[in-house]
Amino acid sequence: MNLWPARLHHLRRDSPQPERLARFYGELLDDRVERLGEDAWLLAGRHRRLVIGRGAAGAVPYFALQMQDATQLREYARELEQIGVRCEASPTPLFGAGAFAVKDPDARRIVFGLPEEIRGENGLPARLQHFVCATRRLPEMVKFYGDLGMIESDRVLEKDSLAACFLRSDPEHHSFAAFRAPESRPDHHCYETNGWLDIRDWGDRMGRLGIPLWWGPGRHGPGNNLFFMIEDPDGHKVEFSAELELMPREKPCRTWPHEQRTLNLWGSAWMRS
Ligand SMILES: [Fe+2]
Repeated sequence: MNLWPARLHHLRRDSPQPERLARFYGELLDDRVERLGEDAWLLAGRHRRLVIGRGAAGAVPYFALQMQDATQLREYARELEQIGVRCEASPTPLFGAGAFAVKDPDARRIVFGLPEEIRGENGLPARLQHFVCATRRLPEMVKFYGDLGMIESDRVLEKDSLAACFLRSDPEHHSFAAFRAPESRPDHHCYETNGWLDIRDWGDRMGRLGIPLWWGPGRHGPGNNLFFMIEDPDGHKVEFSAELELMPREKPCRTWPHEQRTLNLWGSAWMRS
């Protein structure tokens, strides 16, 4: 499949109180907040975009991957058609002509396309890098994303049962991951910084804003990245990360035991199941 390389460009976060959520992310990231319509906002910053809309608390109805160019996008659409994956119209206002979406087994949309606006932004370093969901149908989800052309980087196993899977669409360890859980829901999205000192600076910023760290700092086993997480007003988790592992395309998938240390080499972990 012609997915490689593709990078997370933006996602949509919904809330019954979207304006409050837009203000929260604007303050959190020090980003430009722009109204997109009656019930939608755009958050724009340095290497990050977020669409906020009205909907269920904590929902992420789609995430959007940026392809390299129009040729890759066209070829990829043709390949999906050949394997019988149904493509629909793109739901995002941020991608231009040729963008399209597919629906995963949890009915979340993944959009593929090219951004219409390419504008340099100033601001603190935190590139939108990955999205993670929890799911009650993990094996089905992993097969679906594998069929899309994502490559498995790490699997977490509880005896023979799959508890989590991390998948990549470029050399960064994961652009998407899924955790086994009693119910399907968004889990978190993550901003990759330029190094540990940025994690310090973001931690200091959380202190100034009065936003308590929810988990971490720590170091994940899969991905080997330094991280901490906070919660947005709907309880959706937001991660700041540094030193995420790079993994060449051909490097084989590894396995980890389902235990706290896997998810945090420094200590205790958020176990989704
Ligand atoms: Fe993460």
